[in-house]
This record gives sequence, structure tokens and C-alpha cells, in this order.
Amino acid sequence: MATTPHERTLDPADWDALRALAHQMVDDMLTHLETVRERPAWQPMPDEARARFSQPLPEQPEGAEAAYREFVEDVLPYPLGNIHPRFWGWVIGTGTPVGVLAEMLAATMNPNLGGADHAANQVERQVIGWCKALVGYPAEASGLLVSGGSMANLVGLTVARNAMAGYDIRREGVGAAPRPTTFYASTEVHSSAIKAVELLGLGQDALRLIPANDAYQIDLGALEEAIAQDRAAGCQPIGVIGCAGTVNTGAIDDLNALADLCEREGLWFHVDGAFGALASIAPGLRPLVAGMERADSLAFDLHKWMYMPFEVGCTLVRAEEAHRKAFSLTPDYLVHATRGTAAGSPWFSDYGVQLSRGFRALKVWMSLKAHGAAAYREMIQQNVDQARYLSDLVDEHPNLERLAPTSLNIVCYRYVEPGLSKEQLDDLNAELLIQLQEQGIAVPSSTVLKGCYAIRVANTNQRSRREDFDLLVRESARLGKQLAQAAQAAS
Ligand SMILES: Cc1ncc(COP(=O)(O)O)c(C=O)c1O
Repeated sequence: MATTPHERTLDPADWDALRALAHQMVDDMLTHLETVRERPAWQPMPDEARARFSQPLPEQPEGAEAAYREFVEDVLPYPLGNIHPRFWGWVIGTGTPVGVLAEMLAATMNPNLGGADHAANQVERQVIGWCKALVGYPAEASGLLVSGGSMANLVGLTVARNAMAGYDIRREGVGAAPRPTTFYASTEVHSSAIKAVELLGLGQDALRLIPANDAYQIDLGALEEAIAQDRAAGCQPIGVIGCAGTVNTGAIDDLNALADLCEREGLWFHVDGAFGALASIAPGLRPLVAGMERADSLAFDLHKWMYMPFEVGCTLVRAEEAHRKAFSLTPDYLVHATRGTAAGSPWFSDYGVQLSRGFRALKVWMSLKAHGAAAYREMIQQNVDQARYLSDLVDEHPNLERLAPTSLNIVCYRYVEPGLSKEQLDDLNAELLIQLQEQGIAVPSSTVLKGCYAIRVANTNQRSRREDFDLLVRESARLGKQLAQAAQAAS
């Protein structure tokens, strides 16, 4: 008689023990979120904690409980800080408790949303429909959830390049272009758009960076001139990238003017609205991004200003056929059936780079159902109101100076002290920012505006309160004074 071989599985031998651990984890994590305000916004990792990450590959099992204990001791205490109420660095959202739970449900089903006939794809379809409704984009447009704004820009700009090439660029490649192709955006455009143009094989120089005006919006006259010059020089302009919320200051290009220009010039109009596109969901802010709905393609994030857990962004493309033509490739092993598991056309893999795709739609679906769109409309307005509140506090303080208009949810400022040189002020403010972070007070990030070092607060935080901005201003002034005194003493 044949013996039955020992067959391994990674499911637990003792489900009850894992269930008990899982309950513990859920309890601990909810408490972790509930008490986040009591912890520092950020803390540096001590060397001994860092060193614990150089252990060799564990060949033998340590058990889920031991792994969880290590996570609690070595990982959990040293976060980036973005779930904290006083994190305003770069543009990074906070996430929500419902989002956490949805991630667990998504991982339990563990579907692949590349294609096929199953409910998870219906969830994503519905979420994309809701995204269109939220940002006022045409219902017949196509769309795709992606990893974030960078991928959303890459997908949109790929469709633009292919649709505007005038020949079969997928078959013949960029080398067959009869003339050099060019895109246009302001100098304020996000690096992800520059990377996208590089990845499209056009080269960084193909993205013409047009000067911005004092409000950090694209200079429309300079844009028209650059397009005309390029045409005269034998180039083929193919598209303009409008910014709905620049990363530096939150400035919004005149999107209606860009849409008009693109119509006139026969160019593709792509909008990078990574966070700014979501301003459209708050009735009081919608006029700021008027014209965005006219874009041929629109990129935005849900893990920034919709507070979804990482990662989730969205690309919408007005012309479904152009979108599909840019990505669809169906070998025999991926054939789309009309019945059975392989049905469910159209497949999402026909609209983007990824074949295997996670269930990122579920956290969006559950969050919108749990909280309702109205809550998001209010939260986004609240973040902008808080940014305006911070702007006023900065403007009222004799030692703080605002360095850019507060167009949306971003405030850029610095500490100033008469008698200090520009270099001294740059150094002082760089040190001030580090001390705010190292002392666990708050996490803004930095940028450079018109040559000046700026402390930059980007508010996509669903936990911030006005008192947090009061504290930031108080502490910026206190640390700034100390640093100014030290600089004066040293000079
Ligand atoms: C304006 C803008 N575009 C694109 C991106 C890239 O988005 P992601 O980080 O989600 O890839 C960002 C990120 O901050 C951004 O601010």
C-alpha cells in the first residue's frame, strides 16, 4: 500500500491559537490608533533597534506570535508619523480605522483584479464610477485604480503619447517618430510627471518646463510661445500637463484656459491632480479646479486627500478606446472568455501596466459606504480651513513669514529675525524643521521657494485640529528664537 506523503500547508495547525493572536492584534492596533495623539509625531530609531534588522534569513519557524512581538517592539514604535495629528510632511495621508479593517478583508479574499469574473472587479468598477462622480468627470470615461499618483500620471501620459503619435507607436517604438515629440508643464510640475516622460522613452528634455507666475501657476503666454517655437523648429507638440495642486505650494493652474488652449492647438490635456483634484468634492472649493473635468486624462490619489491607506490612486481617461488601445495585449493564456471564470470583460489588465492587481478597491468602497461622501467633502473643506487658519497665525506673528500664497491646503513659511543674512535664515530654518521633527512636536517637510528655504505644511490629515496648528506656530517661534540667538552669538 502506498504511503501518503506529508504535504505541507502554511495554514495554521491550531486555528484557535491563531484566532486568539488575531484578536489580540486587532485590539492592539485599534488602541494604537486611539492613542496616537499621546505619542511623538516622529522619533529617530536608536542604533540598537536599527541593528536588529540585520538578522539573517530565518530558516526555521519562530512562530507568528514571536514575529508579532518583534513587530510591536521594533517596528511599531518608529513610524514615519503620518497617522499622527501633527504630520504634514510631503503629501501623505493618514489612513482611517475602517481602512485598516478593509485591508484585512481584502487580504482574506486575496483576489487578483487583473481580470476574470468575480465580485472584486465589480467593486473596483463601482469605485471608479464613484470617483468619476466625486470629481465631476464624464460617466462614460474609463478608469483604473493604480498604486498612486506616479502610476496614475504614467498611465495617463502613456495614453496621451500613444493616441497622439500618429503612427503605431506600440509596434514601431519611439525611434520611428517622424519628429521629436514634446509635452508641456510648468516648472512646478511634480517629479513623477518628469519620470513618466522619461519612462515613455521621450527623454527629460521633451517635457518643456514653462515658467510659473507669482501665484505659481503656469504662465499661459510663455506656454503658447513655447508651443509655437517648437512647431517652428519641427517638433510635434502632443500634450500639456496641468497642475491641480502643485506639490510645492498647492497652486492650481488655470485649467479652463489650458483646456481651451489644448482644444485650439489640438493637444492632449492631462491633469495631475494628485491631491488637488479632490478639492472638487467640496462645493466651496470646486470653482478652484474648474476646467479639470475637461481633461483628456486625469490622475489623482486616494491615499492622500481621501485618507485611504496606502496604496491607491486613480487614472481616468475620457476616451475609453484610446485607454484600452494603449495597454491591451491578450495572449492565448489570458484569453477573455464569455462564460466561466475567465469571463468578466473588460479586464482591468487591459487598461494599465499591471497584470496582477490587488484589491485596493475594497478600502475605498468600504470607506465611502461607512462614512458617506458627505464626510469627505467636509473633511477636505476642513483641511483647507485649517490651512487658512495656519496662514493667518503665521501672518500675525512678527517672526514668521509666509513664503507663498495659500491656494489650497499647503502653507509655506519660515522664521525670520532682523539682522540675519539669507544664508543664516536658510540654515536656521533647516535646523528648526529638524528640531520640530526630532523633538516629536510635528512633521512638516521643506522646499525652496524663490531661493528661500521654506518649512512646508501640507494638510491632508483627518486627525489635525486647530490646536495642533497653534502648537506648531508656538513651537516654531520658540525654537526659532533660540536658534536666532545662537546664530547672533556666533556671528
Ligand atoms: C502633485 C503631485 N503629483 C504626483 C505625486 C505622486 O503621487 P504618489 O506619491 O502617490 O506616487 C505627488 C506626490 O506627492 C504630488 O504631490
